[in-house]
Parts: sequence; structure tokens; C-alpha cells
Amino acid sequence: MIESREDYNKHYKHSVDNPRKYWQEYSKNFMWKNSPEKILSWNFNDPDIKWFEDGTLNITENIFERNIKNKDDTAIIWEANNPSESNKEYTYSELFDEVCTFANVLKKNGVEKGDRVIIYLPMIPEAAISMLACARIGAVHSVVFAGFSANSLSDRINDCSAKVVITSDGNFRGSKVINVKGVVDEALKNSDCVKNVLTVMRTGSDIDMVKGRDLWYHEESKLVDNICTAEEMTSEDLLFILYTSGSTGKPKGVVHTCAGYMLYAQFTFENVFQYSRGDTYWCTADVGWITGHSYIVYGPLLTGAKTILFEGVPTYPDASRFWKVIDKYKVNQFYTAPTAIRALQSYGEKFIRDSDLSSLKVIGSVGEPINEEAWNWYNDNVGKNNCPIVDTWWQTETGGIMISPLPNIIDCKPTYATLPLPGIQPVLLDNQGNEILENNVEGNLCIKYPWPSILRTTYGDHNRCRETYFSTFKGYYFTGDGARRDENGYYRILGRVDDVINVSGHRIGTAEVEDAINLNKEVIESAVVGFPHEIKGQGIFGFIIIKESEKEIDYFSSIRETVNKYIGPIAKPDQILIVPGLPKTRSGKIMRRILRKIASNQFDNFGDISTLLNPDIVEKIISNYKKLSK
Ligand code: PRX
Repeated sequence: MIESREDYNKHYKHSVDNPRKYWQEYSKNFMWKNSPEKILSWNFNDPDIKWFEDGTLNITENIFERNIKNKDDTAIIWEANNPSESNKEYTYSELFDEVCTFANVLKKNGVEKGDRVIIYLPMIPEAAISMLACARIGAVHSVVFAGFSANSLSDRINDCSAKVVITSDGNFRGSKVINVKGVVDEALKNSDCVKNVLTVMRTGSDIDMVKGRDLWYHEESKLVDNICTAEEMTSEDLLFILYTSGSTGKPKGVVHTCAGYMLYAQFTFENVFQYSRGDTYWCTADVGWITGHSYIVYGPLLTGAKTILFEGVPTYPDASRFWKVIDKYKVNQFYTAPTAIRALQSYGEKFIRDSDLSSLKVIGSVGEPINEEAWNWYNDNVGKNNCPIVDTWWQTETGGIMISPLPNIIDCKPTYATLPLPGIQPVLLDNQGNEILENNVEGNLCIKYPWPSILRTTYGDHNRCRETYFSTFKGYYFTGDGARRDENGYYRILGRVDDVINVSGHRIGTAEVEDAINLNKEVIESAVVGFPHEIKGQGIFGFIIIKESEKEIDYFSSIRETVNKYIGPIAKPDQILIVPGLPKTRSGKIMRRILRKIASNQFDNFGDISTLLNPDIVEKIISNYKKLSK
């Protein structure tokens, strides 16, 4: 673990001067079935990146068997949605039993190494257990956030030809009970690859079970034992696929492989959170996102940490829930998203006052830029000016944290993710692809050397991976983010420079939302852009051309419902403006920068609009916007 600024400088220099040696040394902390000799081969053109290629291992052996002497330490504390329901705690050895049992149920139902398994579960212990069970037997998990619609779920099931779907009979979320099994049933009407649906009982809801296809987990688990040897995996075998939105088309399956991901998850967890044995750590993300994968499940468990898995939401039963959970378990490291901070800030300090937060040592932020006001509120009210804030920048594709302060080692600066972790070589490029070497500049954030957990491909479509990340700037991994570097070399992430909107820390592609909106039968065409939103960071603004209609139609509700149906509630537009046309170039491309300005209530400095096919439309859209805002 890095312990001082001097130590960081040494690590960083070593990792850049001799990356192979640096990671080879770190790899010796792990349990290999065959130790790797070949550390790294790579090119960013294909791309073709291999870490520890000739090594073999199993990530779950590195969680359980490697740390066997700590088997009685608590691994997971599960806190239920309803605070009056008792929590559950699992030691490492209890968790190991659960994982092996689950793995045996999968095996019994024909799941083999390399098969894809979709996990569509609420935040219950089985979410983590089933991920680890897949890893134990070499099956590839793909967790889908349980808020996605049937349509989004079936797209993902079909894209990876999943053999099994793991779900539950329901999801307690705040005051609601959500019928997740019903969503799976609906999704499977459009999928014929799935042989079984394994259903975990959680809510006791009355659900349909399809004979021959649907199985209850609690029944199946009685038929197997809890001993399961770990499948031997090569380093570059797939560990998981996680779907994420891009600027075009449907979400793509980001692929992470076994060894590099494992190393980097542990490395970043222990350094960024400065976790010491006995600490209690809590990340509030959902396992359906990469943050949940790397910093609820894999990073903490590889480190032997005590990690909290929280089923609920920040505002149920009221806006004091997070603070009460911190107090209840004496949480030492707390990791959440700016949206949650802003939302809880908006409820006022009275909800935080009665909780004792003095156990906190490090507090973190992830997923979107944290504005200065929220940073200060977090610092004053949660950290009590006494906890470093780790503003961690990274992505689904990077697998782990890339740029972040290290607590008490690298000084924090509000809104800055600060410095790269060892092994990470960020650069800023101008639009022509030249590296900008000075400080106090802005540019396109790229990374010029592979790190162990860089994505390897996008599932089933390697070309898309090349086009999206490795073609814009040849020889670099392009993040899609813009960044600023200050006079001390600190990075501040400015947000996406592509057509991706970051709503409450969730990536949503404009094309995806437009495709959904266009399925509404009243709609001719649409364009969506992001606009500043007080709580969510960015909201979704839809400009819509509608068909003529005699009827009175509530377009706002109708369009939101369509998006809810085809994607899920997170992608519902916050604002809709009916327009007579969209600003398009002669080649038919929508000029989104104009729409972004209008949606942000700015009506000047549109730049050159002479290339527009229909320049008059801009004034018409502005006039409709002004009418709407009145
Ligand atoms: O725009 C950046 C933003 O979130 C994007 C990655 O989204 P996703 O793959 O869903 O992963 C989110 C959790 C790692 C990035 O391209 N982002 C992430 N962290 C930060 C951030 N923007 C500013 N500051 C951050 N700390």
C-alpha cells in the first residue's frame, strides 16, 4: 500500500519507467495456479492487449483460499431496504459456502465454463454470491441493473446469448415492490437462448413460474453440496461482460478478463480507500454498474475487507438513511455519487444532525463531475472537514479507478480528481490529436499505455471497440471525456465530449433515447441532448417533431412512458419541446451543439450555422422554448 507522497512518487515513476516489472511485482501477491512469465503484450491499433497471458488462476480462490487465515472476518454486511428488517452478515467462510452452493446449482443446471449468465437481481446478498459463483466455475456473468426495462434486458440477453437468467420474485425499493420476475418473463418472449431462470425468493410475491424453465433457487440449493473446486482460468479468459451506453447504437458489452481486472481492482481499492483490516467500508452503488462490481464485490473482497451491501434508497424511510447506516455500522470509508449528495443536501441538514459520523476516515465520490457546492457540503457535513474526499474518475471500460487523490497523501482540491494512480498515463490531446504538454490547459482525455484492467473488447463486435475507443486518436485509448490540467498537473474532468449524457452518474446515449422516443406513434423525429440539472448533474432534453393530430395529447407523459417502456425510468426525458424541425447539416446530421445551447437557456454564440440546411429553424426553436419556459 502506498503510504506517503514520496512513496506515491516512487511508485508512479517505477510504474511508468518499467510497467511490466511494476505489475509483475504486484502480481506476486496473488494465488496463481500457474505463475505468469509473459507480463504484457499490446497494441492499441487492433486493439490487442494481454496481461499475464500464460498465467492461470481463479479470482474466487484469491478471495477465499488465499485469505483463508481471515476466514472468520466479516465479508459482507447486508442492510435491508426496510430498517426494521434484520440485517445479514456473512463471514468469509460463510460466504464461501454460499458461493460454492450457488456454483453447484449452476453446474447442476448445465452451466459450463464460458457460458454467459445474466444476473437481474435487486441488491440482495445473492447478487454478489451469484457473481462469484459464476467466476468460480468460469461462467461469464453479465449483471443488468434491475431498473432496466424488459426490452433493454432482452437486448442484453440476446447480445451475449445467455444460457441462464438469475432473478428474484421481487425487489423492495423504498416504499415500492417491483416485479422483476415479470420483467424477465416479458424479456424472454424475445429470447430463445435462455434455458433456465433461477429465481431467488425475496419478497414472497405471487409470480408465474414457467414449467421446465423456471427454478426456485432455495429448492435447487437443497439438492447440491457446498464444495466446488475452482475452475482453472487463463488470465485472458472472460470474467464478465457489462453493458454500457455509447454515442451510437445500442449499449455495448464491455469485456473484462480475469487476471488484469483482479489485480487492478484490489490495487485501487486498497490504495484509494486506504483500507485497514477491521475497517467497515460502504459503497452505495448498485451491483448493476461497474462501481458495484469493482468496489462492492471484487475490490473489497479480494482485499479481505468488510463491505456493506445496501438494498435500499437514500431517501427511505427518509433522507437520514445513509447517515443512520454509517452510524449503525461505524462506517470508515464511504463511497457515493454526487447526485445522491446533491439530493440529500436539498433535504437540509436536519436529517444528518442526529447521526454520529465520527467513524468516517475517507469519503468518496464517483460517476460524474462533483460541483463545488456539493463538494463543500460533503466536506463540511459528512466529512466534518476531517476526511479526505476521493473524487475518483474512471469508467466501465477502465475497470478500476484511474485518477483520484490518495487520502492524506495527495492533497484534495474541490472538483479535481487530481493525479493518476500508478500505471496510468493520462494525456490531453487537442482535436488534431497532438499531445498538449503544458499545464493550465484543456483537451481530450486519453490514456497512452495499457493498465491491467483496460477493456479488451466489446462482446461480439471487436470492430466497435476499435472504432469507439482506439480510432479517434491513433495510438491512444480515448475516454470520451474532456479534462483540464491545472498548474500542478491535477486533472479536473469536464464531462463528456461525445453524445453521451451523464444522468445521475449513469451513462445514457442520445441515440438510444431517440430510438426509443421515435417508437412513440405520435413522433416523427427527435433529438435529445443533456442540459444542466440541479440534482442529476445532467438532465435529458428532448426536441420532438410530432405528427399532426386532432386529439389533445399529453406529449410529455406519453413520450416519457415510451422511454420508460423501451429503456427504463432512468432515461425518461426531463423536458420535452415540440418543434417544427431540427437544425441539420446538408448531410442530414443534427447539429446538437445548437440544441445543447438552447436547452441550457443560452441563445447566442451558436458558432457557424451557415452550413445548416435550414438556418431559420433555430429562431423557431428558440421561440417555442421561450413559450415553454413562460
Ligand atoms: O464522464 C465520466 C463520468 O462517468 C463516465 C463513466 O461512466 P460509467 O462507465 O458509467 O462509470 C461510472 C463509474 C465509474 C466517465 O466517462 N465520471 C466518472 N467518474 C467521474 C466522472 N466525471 C467526473 N468526475 C468523476 N469522478
